[in-house]
Amino acid sequence: AATTLTIMLVGYLLGSIPFAVLICHFMGIGDPRQLGSRNPGATNVLRTGNRPAALLTLTGDFSKGMLAVSIAQWADLDLFDQALVGISALIGHVWSVFLHFRGGKGVATMLGGCLFLDYRLALSQGAIWLLVLAIRRISSLAAVSMSLLSPVLSWILAPQLLLPVIIMSSLILATHHQNIRNLLNGRESRL
Ligand code: G3P
Repeated sequence: AATTLTIMLVGYLLGSIPFAVLICHFMGIGDPRQLGSRNPGATNVLRTGNRPAALLTLTGDFSKGMLAVSIAQWADLDLFDQALVGISALIGHVWSVFLHFRGGKGVATMLGGCLFLDYRLALSQGAIWLLVLAIRRISSLAAVSMSLLSPVLSWILAPQLLLPVIIMSSLILATHHQNIRNLLNGRESRL
């Protein structure tokens, strides 16, 4: 249990790394928290028009979820505890210790964590995300659809992960509350 808690803390710290803010800063784009949706995430970095910066943000936020879960695997934690570490990384992304406990919306970090928890789950989540994005060109709609369907996917593909997946999906739906309001009003921006 002590090992799990320690690695959860490591996961939280990794998740807290605000790639959007760092990358935009070092690439001279400004602060994504002052631009567009004000969200420090890949979608909002893309709104600056800088595709490499958006891709780097996506990769960084995805990798920290992946890395957190892979550390849990090196430490031989069982699958449920690995998922707790993934959730910790997601919590770090959303309430970052480096951003006065504010942060992003968690989509890339959840997908990165899920990839190492159960790659079939992550691939199906990614497929839904991509499909909705391709059809509607709205990043938040893709994220919300993916979150709503993730428990079903988990139930079918990885029932042991159902509870953690419900927690992660609920958190992502919560971080998208403003997007959901915009979607319902028809005011959400397209990519
Ligand atoms: O991954 C975040 C995305 O779903 C929404 O981002 O900037 O449109 O609020 P944004």
